[in-house]
Amino acid sequence: DKGRHRHFMAKEIHEQPSAVGRVLARYIGADRSRVVSPAEAVDWSAASRVLLIGCGTASFAAHVAKYWFEQLAGIPCELDIASEFRYREAPLDGREVAIFVSQSGETADTLAALRHVAGRVAATLGIVNVTESSIAREVDTVLPILAGPEIGVASTKAFTCMLATLATTAILAGRVRRRLDAAREAALLGEMLSLPRLMAETLRLETEIAEAAAEIAPARDVLYLGRGRLFPIALEGALKLKEISYIHAEGYASGELKHGPIALIDDGVPVVVTAPSEPLFSKTVSNMQEVLARGARVVLLTDAAGAEAAGSEASIRIVLPNIGPEMAPILYSLPVQLLAYHAALARGTDVDQPRNLAKSVTVE
Ligand code: F6R
Repeated sequence: DKGRHRHFMAKEIHEQPSAVGRVLARYIGADRSRVVSPAEAVDWSAASRVLLIGCGTASFAAHVAKYWFEQLAGIPCELDIASEFRYREAPLDGREVAIFVSQSGETADTLAALRHVAGRVAATLGIVNVTESSIAREVDTVLPILAGPEIGVASTKAFTCMLATLATTAILAGRVRRRLDAAREAALLGEMLSLPRLMAETLRLETEIAEAAAEIAPARDVLYLGRGRLFPIALEGALKLKEISYIHAEGYASGELKHGPIALIDDGVPVVVTAPSEPLFSKTVSNMQEVLARGARVVLLTDAAGAEAAGSEASIRIVLPNIGPEMAPILYSLPVQLLAYHAALARGTDVDQPRNLAKSVTVE
């Protein structure tokens, strides 16, 4: 049932404040200042590395988690696309914690990667939506992402629920490894607990975002840029746009612009920049100047301070609520989903059933 929405995708985008709220209620204790999670069964202190593995959108959630596990828990991470990991013969020392991220829990490559490491690493963790799935059955520890059924082929609420689940896991690992003290853990969880409210505020920008999407819809190619934790959100924004609008899009780390993709820029290539204000924001502004000088339109997704610092450099500015840098990727997922959704509506494509795609990819 789509309720008041035209598509399952729209319904699922709008369910995100409550879906992420469920994740927070499950993995944050009643005192609202400490993670409580089945991931406490993992010996995080002894872990040599975290391996993060998934496909598509799930791999981008894993990519954000790499920043969290490294910065909040000080654990070296490797990020792999499951179809690469299963064949690349990565050397293992037996002390790794391997995390498999999958909405369906049935993705063939992710399941094969799990079977490849089972018994050869210290622990396997599954971040899954469908708890009656093969991956959920075969991992040592399951962390349900509690998104509820996701019908739209393009993943939306499962992505932000994966992120929220992974963030609590990284915070837990940071506490166990004495990288985060109780005050810092409580502060990070406080940020997370504000997400449902900030996500609801962000969804109220939909009309503005739809206007920006109208600028993107006629384009043949679109670039998405982001740095740090927002780099995977640029990748996810580009994937979402490709999947449902069939517009060619690529996501790049902002610092990579000069190393090739800038050759594509002309007045027909809109550039979407996901950039909350942060210490490196001035570098992002100079990236925008470079593309504007070549005639491109820039859609800047930022906060109030970022909009101020960017001045008139962006053609279109969407101003999101303020959020700390750690949890920004969760909030900034929403406008890139809405951009893709409205670009697809403008193109008249089948949003819930994009051509050539299946919800669950159970063959290699
Ligand atoms: C993107 C999308 C796919 C899936 C990928 C992994 O919108 O839906 O990229 O994310 O096929 O699927 P799961 O998470 O079920 O393993």
